[in-house]
Amino acid sequence: MKFHVLTLFPDMVQNGLETSITGRAIERGTIGLNVVNIRDFSHDKHRHVDDYPYGGGAGMVMQPDPIYEAWTHVTQGMDQKPRVIYLTPQGRVFRQDMARDLAHEEEIIFLCGHYEGVDERVLDEIVTDQVSIGDYVLTGGELAAMVMIDAIARMVPGVLTNEESGTYESFYNNLLEYPQYTRPPVFRGREVPEVLLSGHHARIEEWRRRQSLERTLRHRPDLLEQADLSREDFSYLETLGYKRDSWTDQ
Ligand code: ADE
Repeated sequence: MKFHVLTLFPDMVQNGLETSITGRAIERGTIGLNVVNIRDFSHDKHRHVDDYPYGGGAGMVMQPDPIYEAWTHVTQGMDQKPRVIYLTPQGRVFRQDMARDLAHEEEIIFLCGHYEGVDERVLDEIVTDQVSIGDYVLTGGELAAMVMIDAIARMVPGVLTNEESGTYESFYNNLLEYPQYTRPPVFRGREVPEVLLSGHHARIEEWRRRQSLERTLRHRPDLLEQADLSREDFSYLETLGYKRDSWTDQ
């Protein structure tokens, strides 16, 4: 899987993604990262890439030509043009299922906007998907692209080790993660739940499942509507006051 990022802040993207697990995956060649500075495609001797908005108003707008040329530079010689994701609060909201689907792409291009926006014509020309990482406004698309790349990369086979593997993490099957504990057994008077010290695997599994269900009900009840719940899950949730019309057997 190769990620291309068109940006005015290449160091931010490069440095961020070359850190930690994504950095290790890049080093090993499990994922590729190609960061392209849109400013390198400016037509202006001062390397400007923005201009005043037609019709007036505050702020500046990124011009279409440098972005189009950066995209041409990335895609030239490719048989199949990759998807181009434009990061914007107006896009479809990014979720785990989208990360899982995008992890099957061979290459993806991310376009990071800045200033008050990007000339609409270049979006019409090259963008295939508009994505938001949540209902808030960032100063630019870079952090959003990095969030998406991190979430997609960890779904790519070989990026996580077995130990790091996300099988039991939040949003796997739309349930939040159960709480984790490590040594010491007592921290500032707070004890590790006794069941975890029991060595009784079936009881531990049941306790963890119930913790996941309880947390999801408390913090993200909306997720439960999509979760695969067994009869046992459903009965447990009912004791906590939850009602749903149907459940699916696992
Ligand atoms: N650019 C600015 N805000 C954003 C957001 N919430 N998601 C994606 N891109 C953005």
